[in-house]
Amino acid sequence: GVSIVTENGLEAVRIDTELCTGLVYRNGAHVAEWTPKGSEPVLWMSGSSHFTDGTAIRGGIPLCFPWFGPGRDGDRTPAHGFARLSPWNLTSAELSPNGLVRLVFTLTGDDVADLGGFPADFEASYAVTMGTAMQLALTVRAGEQPLEVEEALHTYFAVGDARQVRIEGLDGADYLDKVAGDRRTQSGDVTFTAETDRVYFSEATTRIVDEQLGRTIVVEKACSANTVVWNPWVDKSEAMADFGDEEWTGMCCVETVNALGDATQLSPGASHTMSATISLT
Ligand code: BG6
Repeated sequence: GVSIVTENGLEAVRIDTELCTGLVYRNGAHVAEWTPKGSEPVLWMSGSSHFTDGTAIRGGIPLCFPWFGPGRDGDRTPAHGFARLSPWNLTSAELSPNGLVRLVFTLTGDDVADLGGFPADFEASYAVTMGTAMQLALTVRAGEQPLEVEEALHTYFAVGDARQVRIEGLDGADYLDKVAGDRRTQSGDVTFTAETDRVYFSEATTRIVDEQLGRTIVVEKACSANTVVWNPWVDKSEAMADFGDEEWTGMCCVETVNALGDATQLSPGASHTMSATISLT
């Protein structure tokens, strides 16, 4: 079933059905767990994460909105937007006869402590559907002013060893390499051999092939022009207080994103939905 619980001192929704188990914190509408029955957890969580209302959680699926990182001009705070720091409202929770659980969380300007200059009359809603697959759909509606929105489902996946996985689906895609500070073109599959922080200009489905865990994670996207691939490697994970020094080998981020030149432009009253469906093969 579906129950409201306190987990790590925070309000959360726990899901335990015939198809999967899951956990979603109200703070940030943050999906922290999705585990299909009979599988290992699909999402990675740091053992050093903070769990405090108004603070980002490390791992799972931080929801970045209405800007990504410092925003396209590089000057926005808080980093990755206010959505992951805000208390979302659970407006519906349904268990359907086919065993799927669908949660809907909403956020408006009234819920946000610091809008960082963003218009208050937006409405965001986030539908999380969990079963043997998981679907995530973020819908944003503009109020009376036009909106420019960056957004990311900043998904941390659990992997056997980041140095041995490969990500299929990005061959030939252009990307911004945020470590090197230049633009490049992907040749072949993506592998991790050093700190990796890239914004791919690609709507394609990606597959994280993990021979060690004997599984492939498939990320299918809709209305997402960018895929961000991130692994902090040694030095950057040591520098992050909420990320264990040895943990980076067990994770990689493959994120469903609209950012930079692909930020979503909404005219007054218009809405837009970005979504991702995650499954295992
Ligand atoms: C990634 C960014 O998506 O998120 C990185 O591309 C950033 O640059 C990382 O370091 C984590 O961000 P944060 O704010 O959660 O530490």
